[in-house]
Amino acid sequence: MKKTETSLLLGDCREELKKLADNSIDLVFTSPPYADSRSNTYGGISPDKYVEWFLPVSKELLRVLKPTGTFVLNIKEKVVSGERHTYVIELILEMKKQGWLWTEEFIWHKKNSYPGKWPNRFRDSWERLLQFNKEKHFRMYQEEVMVPMGDWAGRRLKKLSETDKVRDPSNVGSGFGKK
Ligand SMILES: C[S@@+](CC[C@H](N)C(=O)[O-])C[C@H]1O[C@@H](n2cnc3c(N)ncnc32)[C@H](O)[C@@H]1O
Repeated sequence: MKKTETSLLLGDCREELKKLADNSIDLVFTSPPYADSRSNTYGGISPDKYVEWFLPVSKELLRVLKPTGTFVLNIKEKVVSGERHTYVIELILEMKKQGWLWTEEFIWHKKNSYPGKWPNRFRDSWERLLQFNKEKHFRMYQEEVMVPMGDWAGRRLKKLSETDKVRDPSNVGSGFGKK
């Protein structure tokens, strides 16, 4: 059996990341501080300063991630003066300028959320998990996370078109997804 070694680096990521070699990391998964929220617990960054604050970190992550690696960023929009702030959108655009590809998006479904606190909006019961990669040919093991869909899957799958039955590599080129 292959031996797995674990080492933990405890500290400010802006310093600790400098100790990591270029192109050495398979997966980065982070939930940075919420903009201006829970600042006593997690440290808070003003929404207007969030992009400027995060870009040096994402630049280092781009350096240390392997070309086949993946970066998942858990981030949440904040409502300021009655409207949703755009710092998440702005961050995606700036990270693309840094060289990142924005490749996928997942949600963290928060099942204990309930509506009714505000008269002008519902309460989000999800947070974004944005996936970024350096190259189109990244590692992805979809089968490892698939779960049975239930009985209706048999009926649904009967109606699949021929094009749905094959994985489409046309937008990434050949060799995609190989371990
Ligand atoms: C939103 S919380 C994430 C909580 C985490 N997912 C958990 O389950 O505990 C943000 C975390 O980032 C940490 N943090 C803030 N600035 C940091 C930095 N510059 N380097 C490393 N960690 C930082 C905070 O201490 C906090 O634990």
